Order: sequence, then structure tokens, then C-alpha cells
Amino acid sequence: MNKTAVIYWSRTGNTEAMAKAIARGLKEGGVETALLRVRETDVSAVERYDSFAFGCPAMGKEVLEETEFEPFFAEIERRLKDKPVALFGSYGWGDGRWMRDWQMRVIASGASLFAQGLIFQTENPLVTKLKRVFRKDKKPDEAACLAFGKRFAAHIISGRHNINKVKEEIL
Ligand SMILES: Cc1cc2nc3c(=O)[nH]c(=O)nc-3n(C[C@H](O)[C@H](O)[C@H](O)COP(=O)(O)O)c2cc1C
Repeated sequence: MNKTAVIYWSRTGNTEAMAKAIARGLKEGGVETALLRVRETDVSAVERYDSFAFGCPAMGKEVLEETEFEPFFAEIERRLKDKPVALFGSYGWGDGRWMRDWQMRVIASGASLFAQGLIFQTENPLVTKLKRVFRKDKKPDEAACLAFGKRFAAHIISGRHNINKVKEEIL
């Protein structure tokens, strides 16, 4: 039986909305799925789940959130070898560097990175620059998250975890 955990950190709800839609996609795709905030779990999750979708927005200066998510991920990344892993998260004004760095860590861990991380920019950079007060944040695209979850489910069920294609795209 394939069991997947969607483990995420979110402050203002964007990454949480992504996590919920991805979890729904996984379930609809036929995979038993637990949806967990990072503070509700710990590194022992590697013993209970066969695959993982991790979600965290860009925080600090293009890094993972540093008080809860980064310490958790720094521990679990050493135990992800050969496990299917998907990454997702929302970001504001950057260019997605935090996700590129995160993907490299997952590849280095020996995990089977399923695809490029799913990212959503919630701010319009131009408007942000002009005047933050007129900023109108965008919401993550629920349908795209749902589809990402379904594709990850199909990938898990297929058992074909050839990461060379993803590596080629990223490296
Ligand atoms: C303290 C802080 C630091 C942030 N750092 C970055 C950053 O380095 N790059 C970026 O693109 N967005 C940054 N953001 C914007 C968030 O990534 C963005 O608002 C995201 O949607 C928040 O996700 P959440 O709603 O799941 O908490 C930062 C936001 C905060 C509050």
C-alpha cells in the first residue's frame, strides 16, 4: 500500500491552499494521503510514509522557513533516498531561487524528485515595486495544484521512479 504525506509550512495560507489541493489530487488519484503541518510531524514520518510532497514558501532571503521547516527538512533529507518526493510552495517578489536550491538538495539526497517543484507567485512584482499599497495578491491556481497531485499519484502508483528526466531539466 502506498502511503503519502503532504507536509507543509504556511503562514498566510497560500502554501496551505496548495497543500490541500495537492492532497485532494493524490487522494483522487488513488493514493492514501495524510495532510500535515510540519509542526504536527517529525522525522519519524519516513518510517510511516512511502512518499512525500513537501510544501514551503520562500522566506527569509530566498530560503525555506527557518524556525520550523528548515530544521525538519535538514533532518529528513538524509533519509529520503529512493523515495518519491514532490515539492511545492508560494513566493512573493523573488525569482523562485529558493525552489531551485531546494530541488538541488532533494536531488543530492538521492530521493526520486518527481518533477520540477510547483511554484506560485502571489505578488505582482511590478505592482509591488510601484506601490505596495496597491498590491493585489494572487491566489495559487487550485486546478493546477489538483492536477499536480494527480500526476504525482500516477507516478507513485506506476513505481517507475526514473529521475534522469527531471535531473536533465533542472541541472
Ligand atoms: C518574512 C518573509 C520573508 C519572505 N521572503 C521572500 C523571499 O525571499 N522571496 C520571495 O519571493 N518571497 C518572499 N516572501 C513572500 C512569501 O513567500 C509569500 O508571501 C508567500 O505566498 C507566503 O506563503 P504562505 O501564504 O504559505 O505563508 C517572504 C514573506 C515573508 C513574510
